Amino acid sequence: MKICRTVEETRAAVAALKTGGKRLGFVPTMGALHDGHMSLVTLAREVTDFVAVSIFVNPTQFGEDTDLQNYPRNEARDLAMLQAAGVDVVFLPEVETIYPPGHETIVETTRLANILHGAVRPGHFRGVTSVVTRLFNIVQPDVAVFGEKDYQQLQVIKRMVADLHVPVTILGGPTRREADGLAMSSRNARLTDADRAAAVVLSKALNAAADLAQTGTSVAAIRALIEAIIASEPRASLKGLDTVTPDTLEPVEGPLTQPLAVMLSVQFSDILLIDQKVIQP
Ligand code: PAF
Repeated sequence: MKICRTVEETRAAVAALKTGGKRLGFVPTMGALHDGHMSLVTLAREVTDFVAVSIFVNPTQFGEDTDLQNYPRNEARDLAMLQAAGVDVVFLPEVETIYPPGHETIVETTRLANILHGAVRPGHFRGVTSVVTRLFNIVQPDVAVFGEKDYQQLQVIKRMVADLHVPVTILGGPTRREADGLAMSSRNARLTDADRAAAVVLSKALNAAADLAQTGTSVAAIRALIEAIIASEPRASLKGLDTVTPDTLEPVEGPLTQPLAVMLSVQFSDILLIDQKVIQP
């Protein structure tokens, strides 16, 4: 496994792999890797010849400095996991490598970045598209894989790639879950034992919504059911519930006649957890 810290090293490593029409898969991460990330690596490997992973805690997508400072980092453990998974190239840049002195270029999807989660985290998705564009230009993958759990992020990146004619195929990787249904996330490790036990309520609410959707129902009834299930857990506080079209993320109302993306954010003490499910009528 080749570990690269500069743009030049990364481009040289990738060029050496991509000879003879070989295709490169790419999984951008912010480290603190868990099985959810590794399933994205597995998916990238299934559809390409080589896999590159980046580990970069991107400052431009964080709101509060404390969130950035508190973000978990464990380079040695991450590298051991990537080595064991047979990853070919790891890109581990410094902030100044990604954002050179004097940088001033941003990339933003103007609507998708500023609705739903983007409305409560101003600048977050602009930070994501700005860093992903830079990473794509450095790593030059054929395919890039992003988790479906960060559902709005996946749609924002698909839009950006389509709008800018970026020659990278974007794939969504299904959400990996703990045995009780909790979506895997770097944040889970920061939950207290009591909050960790209570956090199962997110997947419980989404599964109940999917069951209700099969019975011929309305979006209002689905929302009411989810709200009631989250309210039944005293440690949980519902922060966001969006019921939208799966690709353009526009609000859906009335009888459920089309697939519906349900995006949920729930707070436990100071930790915000998100989960999502596309449910079918
Ligand atoms: O999903 C993440 O971990 C980050 O938002 C990403 C895509 C690596 C960009 O920093």
